[in-house]
Amino acid sequence: MKETLRSLCWEGDALRIIDQTKLPEALSYRRCRTSREVADAIRMLAVRGAPAIGVAAAYACVLAFREAAAGTWEETAARFHALCRELEEARPTAVNLSWGVAQMERTFESASPENAETMLLARAKAIEAEDVDTCRRIGANGAALFAGRKGLRILTHCNTGALATAGIGTAFGVLATLASRGQIECVYADETRPLLQGARLTATELVADEIPCCLIADTMAAAVMRGKKIDAVIVGADRIAANGDTANKIGTYGLAVLAAYHHIPFYIAAPFSTFDFSIRSGKEIVIEERNADEVRRFGGIYTAPKTVPVYNPAFDVTPAALIRGIITERGVLVPPYAESIAQYERSLSHE
Ligand code: MRU
Repeated sequence: MKETLRSLCWEGDALRIIDQTKLPEALSYRRCRTSREVADAIRMLAVRGAPAIGVAAAYACVLAFREAAAGTWEETAARFHALCRELEEARPTAVNLSWGVAQMERTFESASPENAETMLLARAKAIEAEDVDTCRRIGANGAALFAGRKGLRILTHCNTGALATAGIGTAFGVLATLASRGQIECVYADETRPLLQGARLTATELVADEIPCCLIADTMAAAVMRGKKIDAVIVGADRIAANGDTANKIGTYGLAVLAAYHHIPFYIAAPFSTFDFSIRSGKEIVIEERNADEVRRFGGIYTAPKTVPVYNPAFDVTPAALIRGIITERGVLVPPYAESIAQYERSLSHE
């Protein structure tokens, strides 16, 4: 992972993030000094990708505490929790956001007025470090699926690398690990309309890491699967239900259907913080709908009438039945997911 593409960095009085809306034209930064500035950055996708959102939210809670700390402890607590609610509402689909906030609220509950700031900062740093380690493990576990194979052609969607996490990435971590072992012939990256996370971000990471790659428009995936002998599709996730149904960037479900038709294994790569064990199926996942102009425009220019009605869901849900395996930091979960995910949850709670 190139240090220049580190998605976020705590600077003591602010959370510095790469403004991902400006990539690849410019590598510029935003310094968020309040929790609301972090929430805004999450909303506008300056920082995005489920695990990175979770880590950013954790640091935002440190800023929230500093803003809230005044008067009695009860008053501080009420303000802190109110700012946490605002943060949590920035985006609805990636469960990592509410997971990160919940971790910090739990830390707050066990703290005292004297040590709260120190404890919150330590917890945020631990969440970041944990994500770095988790990505590395996901990379190794995913690469193990392809042991002994060379010349791999793998298709991916959206962005799951350093920009989307605190580490080497989830699905991208698998690709980077395979590439470091000389096993990749080509990573096919979907451009990922409407906001082009694949073209703007994943292609930037692939080029920076010198991984053999080829950018395609989303509409080309079927032809690439048929004509280029794709070995696997590997993507990330924003929320995984207890039955394995998985929300990820819009277009993922279509890829899974295409992969099934072409007999190509379809994998999800995600950390524990992306699982929502409290929901039984993907039907319970709230899908974020974004501004219509994201679809009406391309590169800031209107390519459709300004008044045309638009449907712009940011994510879709891939049914568990289409997923060959879910690559986690603790190994690859396989069907039946109700069982393997329940077992995975138990292994996490026994730490
Ligand atoms: O809207 P985005 O860019 O935040 O969507 C990101 C994705 O859908 C990623 O695939 C997902 O968060 C996994 S990131 C490791």
